[in-house]
Amino acid sequence: MPPQDPSRRAFMKSGALGVTSVAIAAAASAPTYAAPRPSDAPLPITPSCSGHETPSSVEGPLFKPNSPERTNLVTPGITGVFLSLRGVVYDRECKPLPGVLIDFWQCDQHGDYDEVGFSLRGHQLTDASGGYKLDTIVPRDYWGRWGRRGAHIHVQVQAPNGPVLVTQLYFPDDTQAYGRDFAAHNAGDQFFNRACVITLGPLRGGRYAGRFDFVIKTSA
Ligand SMILES: [Fe+2]
Repeated sequence: MPPQDPSRRAFMKSGALGVTSVAIAAAASAPTYAAPRPSDAPLPITPSCSGHETPSSVEGPLFKPNSPERTNLVTPGITGVFLSLRGVVYDRECKPLPGVLIDFWQCDQHGDYDEVGFSLRGHQLTDASGGYKLDTIVPRDYWGRWGRRGAHIHVQVQAPNGPVLVTQLYFPDDTQAYGRDFAAHNAGDQFFNRACVITLGPLRGGRYAGRFDFVIKTSA
């Protein structure tokens, strides 16, 4: 696990405020894009909390600080199999945690990361019930510095004044996207962790609803 940086939250928050101010200033002229029908996406399972801390994983080389604050990563030009991911962040006593900073980043349907801008990158804070939502696409497997990687979404999760959990979310073996063999790619991925697999509902109209609940430390 990478060393935890207690200053990251403050750093990201200050960056977020800057981005938000810019976004607000530009809102009058910038086109808006609709979320992929997030309200139509039911949660595939009811919330549950095991109390077991969500396992960490490697951060990888492609994290970028100061991502935009947003819950919808389906910006113009992003196409693929849509994913409406929902969940709750709990502490180890299964208490929902509001105000948790969650930063997601992932590759696109071709297995490429945006290393120049912030496509498929965004952060948010959990709501009063500890909930979060993310509208995005299923990423593709790719070949990287650690060999073949199954499809995954990178994430950092941090309670106020808590340590940063760095981990990755994976997809079930029977996921249908881009004609890829998710079972084979999961099996060949040295970082794949069954404890970090998103629960998916059925594929309907090119869209999945998914659920993943985090359990995190709130102090070091
Ligand atoms: Fe990755």
